[in-house]
Amino acid sequence: MTKVALITGITGQDGTYISKLLLDKGYVVHGIKRESSTARTEDKGGAQKNINLHFHFCDITDYSKLIRIIKEVRPDEIYNLAAQSNVQISFDRPEYTAEINALGTLRLLEAIRTLGLEKKTRFFQASTGDLFGNSLEIPQNESTPFYPRNPYAVSKLYAYWIAINYREAYDMFVCNGILFNHESPIRPENFVTRKITKAAVRIKKGLQEKLYLGNLNAKRDWGFAGDYVEAMWLMLQQDEPDDYVIATGETHSVQDMVEFAFREVGLEIEWEGEGLEKKGRNAATGEILIEVDPQFYRPLESSLLVGNPSKAREKLGWMPVVNFEELVKMMVKNDLKFVES
Ligand code: NAP
Ligand code: GDD
Repeated sequence: MTKVALITGITGQDGTYISKLLLDKGYVVHGIKRESSTARTEDKGGAQKNINLHFHFCDITDYSKLIRIIKEVRPDEIYNLAAQSNVQISFDRPEYTAEINALGTLRLLEAIRTLGLEKKTRFFQASTGDLFGNSLEIPQNESTPFYPRNPYAVSKLYAYWIAINYREAYDMFVCNGILFNHESPIRPENFVTRKITKAAVRIKKGLQEKLYLGNLNAKRDWGFAGDYVEAMWLMLQQDEPDDYVIATGETHSVQDMVEFAFREVGLEIEWEGEGLEKKGRNAATGEILIEVDPQFYRPLESSLLVGNPSKAREKLGWMPVVNFEELVKMMVKNDLKFVES
């Protein structure tokens, strides 16, 4: 029997990777897309129009339309990836962030229940390693206490618990993937990895003079999005629903990320100064290429995020394939090919 999946957030980074993965596995894929979305989705899953790929215009705030879509599609699996996913923006728009991330998740779960699809539809919730925020436990696993440090993570805390609540109250197959940072060549530039790889390439090509960043000491566990969507799918294929940390287990600072990316374009960076005065120079010419700009600092920072993916390895047989260095190389290579302005 052909399986049917419904993906919210199909126009985003993970939506792009998982739609390709599911189409390759023979699924019929339905995606929820906002009318206002600027992302190109026509060629998702291949250059040709794919007859197994269908789009539905809807906003995650629109409960009655969600109900109609789910009633029509009757999905075997829902991947809830739609989110206001940017932490910096969440400080500026906390209420909007909660509306999409927290209540959006509730609406989908309630729609499944209202339509009597509790036993048919399996549900994946994109939770986040940022739930651990200020955790003192390193690395973080499924039993590490949460300590969210921004409105985005707080909204995702509600979504995490409401997902578990529906699993326990209504015996639904619901899984939380506690996903640590994952990146790719299609990561938007308002996330630090892509901002850095694109700037390294633009500086190398003489299209940009400097890169301005915020906290260079922040540490993240960065993996490749293509590996992480495989874990999402695996969670929904198990006999029992559960929650899993998906991470590489390695952590790097933003400063490391800068060094790796600039090295990929042939530029060695030397650092001087501290805090707001820190600068990165081209080791060959002495030219200042990196400076700190306080506008990119956050009111609060998640301290040291690094996940322990042992449970996913043991129960799902999942392991990340692409390591940090390969990820940076992949992103820089892509930017070298396409960045022209
Ligand atoms: P992303 O690139 O920001 O994609 C977000 C998607 O949500 C986009 O398709 C966006 O559509 C859609 N969306 C936003 N607001 C919506 C609304 N009101 N109604 C319907 N759709 C809406 O995010 P991502 O990196 O792919 O992440 C996927 C999910 O995993 C998110 O829930 C994120 O919070 C979570 N997560 C990501 C990471 C990571 O490192 N990438 C780590 C942990 C958890 P438009 O194209 O219209 O904007
Ligand atoms: N975006 C950005 N821009 N971040 C910067 C900058 C800058 O100029 N300079 C330093 N940073 C630091 C941030 O302060 C943060 O500590 C780190 O770089 C990573 O920032 P982002 O790439 O914006 O990602 P994030 O960790 O805040 O959030 C991402 O990962 C979460 C999982 O941990 C998002 O994808 C979230 O949706 C996801 O849940």
